[in-house]
Amino acid sequence: MYILGINDGHLATACLLQDGRVIACVSEERFTRIKNETGFPRRAVKWLIETSAIGPGDVDLVCFLGHRAFLGSMVRSEFKRGLSHISHTPRVWMRRLEYRLPSLRPVGTAGRRAVQRIGTALASGDRVKPLLEVLPVPEDRILFVDHHTAHAYCWYGSPFIGKPSLVITLDGEGDGLSGTISVAKDSMLTRIAQIDDTNSLGHLYSQITEYMGMKPLEHEYKVMGLAPYCSEYNIDKTYPVFAELIGLVDDTLSLRVKVRSQLVPYYLQERLRGHRFDSIAGAIQRLIEELIVKLVQNAIAATGIRTVVLSGGVFMNVKANMCVMEMPEVEELFIFPSCGDESGAIGAAYYGYKQCCERQGLPWEGESIRDLYWGPQYTDADIERYIRDHNLAAQYIIEKPGDMIQHVAQLLGKEKSWPVATGGWNGAHGHLATAAFWLIHLTLISYG
Ligand SMILES: [Fe+2]
Repeated sequence: MYILGINDGHLATACLLQDGRVIACVSEERFTRIKNETGFPRRAVKWLIETSAIGPGDVDLVCFLGHRAFLGSMVRSEFKRGLSHISHTPRVWMRRLEYRLPSLRPVGTAGRRAVQRIGTALASGDRVKPLLEVLPVPEDRILFVDHHTAHAYCWYGSPFIGKPSLVITLDGEGDGLSGTISVAKDSMLTRIAQIDDTNSLGHLYSQITEYMGMKPLEHEYKVMGLAPYCSEYNIDKTYPVFAELIGLVDDTLSLRVKVRSQLVPYYLQERLRGHRFDSIAGAIQRLIEELIVKLVQNAIAATGIRTVVLSGGVFMNVKANMCVMEMPEVEELFIFPSCGDESGAIGAAYYGYKQCCERQGLPWEGESIRDLYWGPQYTDADIERYIRDHNLAAQYIIEKPGDMIQHVAQLLGKEKSWPVATGGWNGAHGHLATAAFWLIHLTLISYG
């Protein structure tokens, strides 16, 4: 049974399951070399089809991440793009007005929901069209999987299948939500709580990233990395600004917010004036760590389950993950690797696999993922051809160290450094150009 999973939003990715096991997965950025490439992952899907030698008739189901399109990348026609462009300025003005006049906020929220629904309806055809161009499957074999259900189904790749687990998802937003808490028992996943996208921890972190002049949905790791440079004394001064904005309602699984996520930029502009950049990073990081730990604590108290699975973009925050790992209440922990929307392609496919198994009366058994080497691989001959075709030998001294790992370790020991490719699903050896570059670059370093 073949299931194709597709994330056509941020960090577009495609994956292929064969009988419930990931046999191939790659992000579009690996082919286009555009970081966090969004939109339909055309080249990734083509690569999956070619390497697996499958045709439209072989695919049992194609599962898209989310009912709602990632509008920024989905809207293809000039007319729809124009509509989106024209509505931008009124939307910004409406938000400003809402922030100043709280009585308008229910109207603003309702208006936003309506715009989202219209946008989804307009863009849904745009999502299927590029798939049919690459893989003409019958439309009854296409499924749109709820965004957070897909994140939660990443649990299927954990080593905890068969034992009761607590599955927590947190991200910016997807299909109207920014988080869910579910209980996994046997092959059933039951959602017990959800967090609206108007109260989004993921959005808040991205908005801080943007407020500090960095790129949202990409540079959050820099805010996390900046946080420990601030003294506790300075963090204490900025922390109340965020604690006042968002927090957990006592011992529940719900968040309370002062202003909804879409209005937070105005709150930040008003309240963060005069606060140091490192205090802001330190304070938001402290708040995120505290809230996540408290949320996990409350969920464990409510369910009595101490085996925890985390998924969704917020858990790219490794420092917060470390706090969860160190909680005495947590017995076992699994965090899906590269757990942003790129892994949503896999979660959506896992969900689709379950649907197919149920329809055909087959058992649905999980298989823990072992590694992430699911993308393109390149042989020495491929690399040598690339070097030759691009005449790189004329510009660089090229050699291949006998023991690459030993060689790299020695360079690290000498405090040498080199670029590191991060994020997204990659192959064992990455992109051909990257592989060649590594050889060349290492050689240059080794020659001093
Ligand atoms: Fe997500």
